Amino acid sequence: MLAGGTRIVVVMVGLPARGKTYISYKVSRYLAWLGVNCRVFNVGEYRRKLVGAKLDHSFFDPYNAAAIDQRLKCAMMALHDMFKWFGDVHSGVAVYDATNTTRSRRKMILDECNKHDVEVMFCESWCDDNDLIDMNIREVKRTSPDYKGVKDIESVMADFRRRIDHYGEVYEPLGGDGTRPLAKGAYPLPPTNPTLEDYNERQVSFLRKINVGSRMVINRITSYLESRIVYFIMNIHIATRSVLFSRHGESMYNLDQRLGGDPSLSPNGKKYAEALPSLISKLLGDQPLTVWTSTLKRTSETAAGLPYKKMQWKALDELDAGLCDGLTYEDVEREYPDEYAMRDENKFEFRYRGGESYRDVVLRLEPVIMELERQQNIMIVSHQAVLRCIYAYFLDIGPDELPYLKIPLHTVMKLTWTAYGCDIQMYKIDIDAVDTHRAKPKAVKRGGILKSSSTNGSANASIASPAKSQASSSKLPLESDTGLSPAPAEIDAVGKG
Ligand code: ATP
Ligand code: F6P
Repeated sequence: MLAGGTRIVVVMVGLPARGKTYISYKVSRYLAWLGVNCRVFNVGEYRRKLVGAKLDHSFFDPYNAAAIDQRLKCAMMALHDMFKWFGDVHSGVAVYDATNTTRSRRKMILDECNKHDVEVMFCESWCDDNDLIDMNIREVKRTSPDYKGVKDIESVMADFRRRIDHYGEVYEPLGGDGTRPLAKGAYPLPPTNPTLEDYNERQVSFLRKINVGSRMVINRITSYLESRIVYFIMNIHIATRSVLFSRHGESMYNLDQRLGGDPSLSPNGKKYAEALPSLISKLLGDQPLTVWTSTLKRTSETAAGLPYKKMQWKALDELDAGLCDGLTYEDVEREYPDEYAMRDENKFEFRYRGGESYRDVVLRLEPVIMELERQQNIMIVSHQAVLRCIYAYFLDIGPDELPYLKIPLHTVMKLTWTAYGCDIQMYKIDIDAVDTHRAKPKAVKRGGILKSSSTNGSANASIASPAKSQASSSKLPLESDTGLSPAPAEIDAVGKG
């Protein structure tokens, strides 16, 4: 997806509480999932490290000369680290997350990036919906380290609104040609830039997302990757919704631990299909829902009793085991010992002969993820490998852990949104099913060479240490052990959008 040597930075622009950090982490999670090196550089974190977190609004006053110096220092430190990171990874996408509300700041960033051979794409979130902004402050800013220990939410609201006003005094939305003069004496950063007058932002690459996407302005987006990023940012929304996942009910092949095929449900699988509608209606109430299944019998049989609109996606079909389709793991080990061993060495990259690898599945799922981002309430009924890939997208789990995630049968997973990421809640239906999970083999030394050896390990070994990310809290999924009646608190914990 990324040509060698390509280095792009998405430079966020916008007043505080406009969702810049939210967008930054979503972009980073999406690209990392597709295998692109990606990292967010959040200037607020540098500011908290350099000058501390508990600063009131006056720190952001554009006439506060001492603070201006410190803010520039933080911005430069983040840029410096970003260039260092590009030096290490060679190609990748960085997201530079700060307000960047003035032309002079943006010109400075552009100049620095040009010097370091990094392509710049600006992304502005512009929003004048005061109710939404208040909600953002209430839901996200009051839990920020900036207000740690402040109990009175109204004083947080008042201080943060004043912070926004300070930025508003000098804010120059993207795309201008410099005709709006800077307020006198305000934000003299960087120290008088003689070229600023010639800096016309209509010449640069940018996306402006206005009022959460009710309008978009796209300017001079040229490269393939930039256009993928733009398309993704255009599609994400923040409406409250429910996203549910389930594997099909236990199948006849699951009973024999056979791979692939197009079997029907086992007797217990059928019981799961019968029990599913009642759990889904408990989780959703009377909200509308669309159910997506694969084209294989076991998923449509599982979804058959769900009284909602349904759609089949070929892209949701199980990972294709090629020559090994229909075999058991023991058959594969006996008939194709080299391939069996190779899969344990690198399960994410291993492609079955005539079939697919996990990486292939991630790539074919990209349109599903894009559509999922655009949609409202969706339930996906699919397969173990496919749901691992989708789970990894939302929880920001890397390729080492992804193929070993534990996605049990007869369990519904529900996404819940956190400030900048997601958690997953599990609702287990109390109907027996076989365990199809194989633990990650332990690396052992054989004859001086590091090799893998299959071990059953602990049941949770695969998810005990998911790759921690900046983007999501990567909390372990909670398994509700209450069968058909998950604790009411869990049902109440509906995603906040
Ligand atoms: P700051 O400059 O203080 O760091 P920010 O612009 O980075 O603020 P976030 O911390 O990302 O703001 O705010 C998160 C909130 O913004 C979430 O509640 C999210 O729902 C909301 N949000 C996400 N996208 C948008 C958008 N395009 N416009 C307005 N709000 C959004
Ligand atoms: O809330 C605004 C904020 O995100 C601060 O946390 C951070 O210090 C600042 O923006 C970074 O942007 P700038 O350096 O442009 O002020």
